[in-house]
Amino acid sequence: MEKTKVGIVGLGNVGSGVARLLTEQSARMTRHAGQPLELAKAVVRDLDKPRDVTLGPNVLTNDLKEITEDPEIRVVAQLIGGTEAARQVMLELLESGKDIVTANKALLAEHGPELFDRARALNRSIAFEASVCGGIPIITNIGQCLSANQITSLSGILNGTSNFIVSRMEQEGADYPAAVAEAQRLGFAEADPTMDVDGTDAAQKLSILAHLAFGARVDWHEIPRIGIDTLDAADLRYARELGYRVKLLAIAKLNGELELHVSPTLVRAGRPLAEVREAYNAVTVVGDAVGNVFFHGLGAGQMPTASAVVSDLIDTAVGRTRITFRTLELWSGRPPRVTLGDHAQARGRYYLRFTIRDSPGVLGDIAGVLGGYDISIASVIQHEPEVQGEDELVPLVIMTHLASEGAAQSAIEEIDGRDYTLQPSVRMRVLD
Ligand code: NAP
Ligand code: HSE
Repeated sequence: MEKTKVGIVGLGNVGSGVARLLTEQSARMTRHAGQPLELAKAVVRDLDKPRDVTLGPNVLTNDLKEITEDPEIRVVAQLIGGTEAARQVMLELLESGKDIVTANKALLAEHGPELFDRARALNRSIAFEASVCGGIPIITNIGQCLSANQITSLSGILNGTSNFIVSRMEQEGADYPAAVAEAQRLGFAEADPTMDVDGTDAAQKLSILAHLAFGARVDWHEIPRIGIDTLDAADLRYARELGYRVKLLAIAKLNGELELHVSPTLVRAGRPLAEVREAYNAVTVVGDAVGNVFFHGLGAGQMPTASAVVSDLIDTAVGRTRITFRTLELWSGRPPRVTLGDHAQARGRYYLRFTIRDSPGVLGDIAGVLGGYDISIASVIQHEPEVQGEDELVPLVIMTHLASEGAAQSAIEEIDGRDYTLQPSVRMRVLD
């Protein structure tokens, strides 16, 4: 029987899971690919590091040439993180005639145009299902299964680490550094977890989805983003009191132009997105023909991510990826179908928390400033002061009606300039 020899570059969390599926479930792979997939080589930096997978003799190497110079290895899973070394490895693999599968969204978001151009010029393919939402097949669903639709909006929890951290803080009162460390220990977080918690990872994934779903060619740096790294546990409590949960949401909304942003958002309890916990990811997609579709599953972690990588390896081995890649709009020469709108004009409801001195006229002044920017108040919570004394710190929470991003930003800046404001104010979008 014909077989496909497979290489892996990077045998960390994801690479080890891929190696385990290929070696421990080889009969299943043969059944689905119609031929065996043989793990021929796995490239790492450090040959002495313990690995949580048992490989055959001579499979582990620290020399990429053992893959690039072996014409029998046709398909390679490129599973090293970061961008610069990963870019170089991808280019070498393409030049040596390999079809590639990758989970590295940072690499694609940064160097996708160059890598896809090169792959097309060399008649090779790149499959990347694992790069967004780990085990959820969101790339295939948006790129192929929903291609009859004009997608009109997409709202997603795209970063498992952030969702894990916020869930732990909300449900168990875990403190932030402990929750970050736990996400690292469990293998969800990036080598540098800053990318997870500051919204970078979600913005990179959103830039890929926005191109697939809307034909928007957007540099991820252009996407306004706020992470969970500045989130205060007090806001999780107020959100709950108001009937909401806080989630790091990535939003794409088509309204003539495209609105894109990543930010902690109050999601009304009971909405499917509000109930997504731990390292789970979820995406709500609205299409003009299909209506509302909800995807949910583990978006990070060894085996869920390996599930997507190995499915791509099978698709590549049997030739399906080649057809998909040829027709893919992503980073092709086709002109963008939509442009990015002015973020200041985007409209939404807001949660605002002010920390103010408890003095006569303050509430009225704040209402006046908001009104001056055409921001209407929907509800107010003011609890008793937390500190008794002359300068009593009073948290004042306001939910607004619809307002523009620019107006909300300007109003906050003006209120933060008042002498009764004792700490920078908090502003979050609301999804009802
Ligand atoms: P990881 O645990 O840090 O593993 C990275 C691996 O790459 C290590 O085995 C490392 O070798 C190897 N490596 C790094 N630089 C190399 C080089 N220049 N040459 C050869 N090997 C090199 O990372 P990971 O969590 O598996 O993530 C891999 C990729 O998948 C990242 O792009 C990540 O964003 C993406 N991803 C991860 C998850 C997840 O849940 N972890 C989910 C979806 C996507 P040594 O072991 O010898 O150091
Ligand atoms: N660090 C990423 C996350 C891995 O937490 O979602 C999956 O891309």
